[in-house]
Amino acid sequence: MSTQTGHAGRLVLAYSGGLDTSVAIRWLSEQKGYDVIACAIDVGQAQPGELERVRQRALDCGAVEAVVVDARDEFADDFVAHAIRSNALYMGKYPLVSALSRPLITNHLISTAREHDAAAIAHGCTGKGNDQVRFEVTAMALAPDLTVEAPIREWGLSREASIAWANERGIPIPVRSSSPYSIDENLWGRTAECGILEDPWVQPPEEVYERTRALADTPDEPDEVVIGFREGLPVTLDGKELDLRSLVAELDQRAGAHGVGRIDMIEDRLVGIKSREIYECPAAITVLTAHRDLEDLCMEQELAQEKRALEGRYAQLIYNGLWFTPLKVALDAFMASSQRFVVGEVRIQLFKGAATVVGRRSDIALYDHDLATYDEADRFDHTQAEGFVRLWGLPTKVWSRRQGDIGG
Ligand code: ARG
Repeated sequence: MSTQTGHAGRLVLAYSGGLDTSVAIRWLSEQKGYDVIACAIDVGQAQPGELERVRQRALDCGAVEAVVVDARDEFADDFVAHAIRSNALYMGKYPLVSALSRPLITNHLISTAREHDAAAIAHGCTGKGNDQVRFEVTAMALAPDLTVEAPIREWGLSREASIAWANERGIPIPVRSSSPYSIDENLWGRTAECGILEDPWVQPPEEVYERTRALADTPDEPDEVVIGFREGLPVTLDGKELDLRSLVAELDQRAGAHGVGRIDMIEDRLVGIKSREIYECPAAITVLTAHRDLEDLCMEQELAQEKRALEGRYAQLIYNGLWFTPLKVALDAFMASSQRFVVGEVRIQLFKGAATVVGRRSDIALYDHDLATYDEADRFDHTQAEGFVRLWGLPTKVWSRRQGDIGG
């Protein structure tokens, strides 16, 4: 255990308690001369009490200080809420679980660095992933004066080599390091990579999953949940008011019990490679399904079309680590404004891996029964349709007469 004062000053490391960051504490002090302050940030990944053990482990590994930050509500209210309003799905599939947490974590590393007068922060990412980009670009946006160290990327040891390196020095290695998968988790979902998952033809073994039941084991009776929204955010479950964090956590369990939210995809990483990713996001998939449906009911159609076009861009921005940028701020204003009338309730059936909308209502719905109906209550003026169709088709008719050749 290193207790000597480092000549490079203090550094704040994003500490997960896993093998890599545990070894990084020692490496940063031994090789780089830093006094390492470990910072574990709770975004909903941990069991109660777990982060206190993680904090102790950091000290055992040689950190001069270790802090735990409870950022669960902040993650829900300032990050997940944006993802909901914008229906954020990267490549139309991935609810941005890790991408959402990185700017928050970096922001806390920076404020911890300021509090402790540290001139550097560090993350435990490799050089192959998106997370390094998210950490470092966030730091460039918020604290361009800070040095960012990337010990795992710089040092490039294999898993076996770092275990050996740790054993030589008597660094206590976490027990869970035997898992063959690389896992990242928070309130919005769980991600798994590596091991057998790297063969995109192989079906993921059941042991990969933690938050979702296998379809073979899900109940044969559906569950139904009513989600109430205000200004585009879920605020009630079956009529019960809940803060966003509790609502997401509760829904995650209910939807996961029916196998909802498993995603198996080939993903385009920012660093240019394609990777096979397994996600479990029961609450995210359920909330986004309900939210989109309520928008269809309540949002004026020109606005809705523009919003759909911007949603993909917004998700890409988050994925690419550009959370703290002017474009993101401008798009936030658009998204927030678009949500003013997204108010109402959505009934969702959870059954055999699917979250299906089976009903929706709103006091300010733009759906008007008397305009839509084919029965006697019909108030739609059919006579106006005739003139409308004539004018709508006029350019096509002119084109047909003069040119009229569809080609091909
Ligand atoms: N591919 C996903 C992303 O880029 C998940 C990353 C998970 N991170 C991790 N360190 N295991 O958002």
